[in-house]
Amino acid sequence: MIRLRPIEATYHDADLLVRWRNSESARAAFFNSDVVTPDTHFQFMRNRKAHDLVWIAETLQGEPVGMVGLRVDVIHRVAEHRSLYVDEQARHLGYGREIEALVLSYAFDTLRLECVWADVLASNEAGRRFYEVVGWKETATDVHGAQTVVIEMHRQEWEGGR
Ligand SMILES: CC(C)(COP(=O)(O)OP(=O)(O)OC[C@H]1O[C@@H](n2cnc3c(N)ncnc32)[C@H](O)[C@@H]1OP(=O)(O)O)[C@@H](O)C(=O)NCCC(=O)NCCS
Repeated sequence: MIRLRPIEATYHDADLLVRWRNSESARAAFFNSDVVTPDTHFQFMRNRKAHDLVWIAETLQGEPVGMVGLRVDVIHRVAEHRSLYVDEQARHLGYGREIEALVLSYAFDTLRLECVWADVLASNEAGRRFYEVVGWKETATDVHGAQTVVIEMHRQEWEGGR
């Protein structure tokens, strides 16, 4: 079992971000593959907007296993799902599925949003398969010059999938 806690401007979280975001698997999965350093982490924490939410997923013993983000548009009641990543040592244990359940519950049950969407690199076959298995639908496949596909989850699908 895991919980989500907001990411912090600490060296502890900077170390996690540096390790995770610079890994081969993250660089292959994310549209933005800029190198992350402690400085870029602190800069991000200083500059981000209040609706740009990022969490660290951790076990109930406080062991970090991954991260996820939501960029919320409160006017249109939608959010962009961002930066889902599970530590390479912690994969295939169901953490990705648990993170999705927590972050989507926050989006639909707490924030009462209508839709959550994400851009996924077309080349990220494992990520696309993961999203399909956990219930997302691909709704557009020729975005950014066919480099990314769009996936969406709507409130009705979320509520129907319970
Ligand atoms: C995608 C990712 C988040 C999955 O995390 P995870 O904790 O290993 O996923 P889970 O263990 O919860 O897997 C849930 C289901 O997704 C599917 N799945 C997970 N990883 C998969 C893979 N590499 N290939 C195909 N299907 C996969 C499986 O069907 C799995 O169910 P099962 O274990 O009952 O067979 C993780 O591999 C990751 O961080 N990848 C790099 C970053 C990334 O691609 N992020 C998403 C796109 S931005």
